Amino acid sequence: MKQDLLKRENQNEDDNLQEPDVQKELQQIRIGILGFGTVGTGVYRIINQHQDDLQSQTGSQISIDKILVNSLDKLRSVDINPDLLTTDPNDVLQDPDIDIVVEVMGGVTEAREYIAQALKLKKHVVTANKDLIASYGGELLSLANENGCDLFYEASVAGGIPILRGLGEGFSSDRITKMLGILNGTTNYMLSKMAQEGMDYDTCLKQAQDLGYAEADPTSDVEGLDAARKIAILGTLGYHTEISLDEVDVLGISSIDQKDVQYGKEFGYELKLLGIADRQEDEIELSVQPTFIKKSHPLAHVDGVYNAVYVHGESVGETMFYGPGAGEMPTATAITSDLVTVVKNIKLGVNGRGKVAPYNIKKMKPKERRYQRYFVRLIVQDESGVMATIAESLSKYDMSISNMVQKPLEDQQAEIVIITHKASLSALESWKGSINSLNPTMKLASYYPVEGGE
Ligand SMILES: NC(=O)c1ccc[n+]([C@@H]2O[C@H](COP(=O)([O-])OP(=O)(O)OC[C@H]3O[C@@H](n4cnc5c(N)ncnc54)[C@H](OP(=O)(O)O)[C@@H]3O)[C@@H](O)[C@H]2O)c1
Repeated sequence: MKQDLLKRENQNEDDNLQEPDVQKELQQIRIGILGFGTVGTGVYRIINQHQDDLQSQTGSQISIDKILVNSLDKLRSVDINPDLLTTDPNDVLQDPDIDIVVEVMGGVTEAREYIAQALKLKKHVVTANKDLIASYGGELLSLANENGCDLFYEASVAGGIPILRGLGEGFSSDRITKMLGILNGTTNYMLSKMAQEGMDYDTCLKQAQDLGYAEADPTSDVEGLDAARKIAILGTLGYHTEISLDEVDVLGISSIDQKDVQYGKEFGYELKLLGIADRQEDEIELSVQPTFIKKSHPLAHVDGVYNAVYVHGESVGETMFYGPGAGEMPTATAITSDLVTVVKNIKLGVNGRGKVAPYNIKKMKPKERRYQRYFVRLIVQDESGVMATIAESLSKYDMSISNMVQKPLEDQQAEIVIITHKASLSALESWKGSINSLNPTMKLASYYPVEGGE
């Protein structure tokens, strides 16, 4: 009798163990994708290939219901049911069954309009669009908040590297002081080639284009605009203040001379296109520019198309995030991770509540207080007294020489390459302006900031 009771009890326990029926509880989450190019195809692949993992993590079945494209006739690199494709954005935006819109079509005007529409219709949004977020991120995040929706954009900075989540969550208790980023794979590939193989700028660009790393019109990459958008996004998140693109000083790599890359190496530096965000005593400075960085710094060893972001926090000290900055699957991984977060938030009923609005008053640092060491290359007449003239001219503007080499040129000329001690940006600019009046035969060939050391 006792055994029967025990049996029945165990049976009940077994029944309880089988409950709840996991299948019955699975919630269907429907996604619409705007764009089916490199990134959109990657998202499609991951959602289909990793469906079991995604279900286990979210308790939901994630399906792709519609995909907006430009052309229905285009050959696609994955097998796809043609009924999923549409050229009418309303098939995604106005479909009441679609819960989340993934924007991977690029561009600003239409993407902004479609995302705004989706948010107003209470659809959550995940985007990879740095151009859009750098210019209209604040506006769209407010709209998301008003509508109780999530808007995530992890893929917009450094592709597969989870840097935004790292800043927003991992370092939420810390105070970020400095961020240095190699944020553009194309230019990093070109500079690596210039440094390692002695190639000139034009040959590197051609090679990057042949390999598909650089666009036919490479302006956005080589003139530093792409990296500027990313450092503006990082600055906004890291310093909790709204940074606009025009607050980033931008200089690209198109006028870099191969000579400078090699001279820098002689001094123990690598030339990298760095996005720099620096905060001291609540004053912020942001820039993107070719910068010499000490070979001992971990960023100096980030080569090829890879990206990396070095973050210094008051409490954590030095950290570095490294990985692929673009590409179909890395970028799609970041997007799908955002999707997982949205779905988890849906389950918890907390969408649109995670956003921390920028709460710091923005103070940009004036040029007089922006201190940096500089690499300077001058072309001079090789005659006695010229070194003294240079040193004197620098000291007039509170600048001084830390390191210097002289390289002979033809026609009685010489190149003087100097690494200065720290000087303010305003001092450097005034000194530059005075060179010609000081000695009309002296020419400033190039100058770059130097990061690290001192
Ligand atoms: N590629 C990367 O590695 C990477 C990395 C990080 C971030 N991102 C960002 O991700 C986004 C997408 O990049 P991608 O490289 O995947 O671009 P892509 O290969 O050029 O694909 C764009 C897709 O959007 C569709 N599309 C564009 N404009 C449209 C319009 N007005 N109406 C309908 N469909 C339109 C195109 O349709 P068709 O296929 O019919 O032409 C195409 O499928 C961009 O914002 C980019 O900055 C890309």
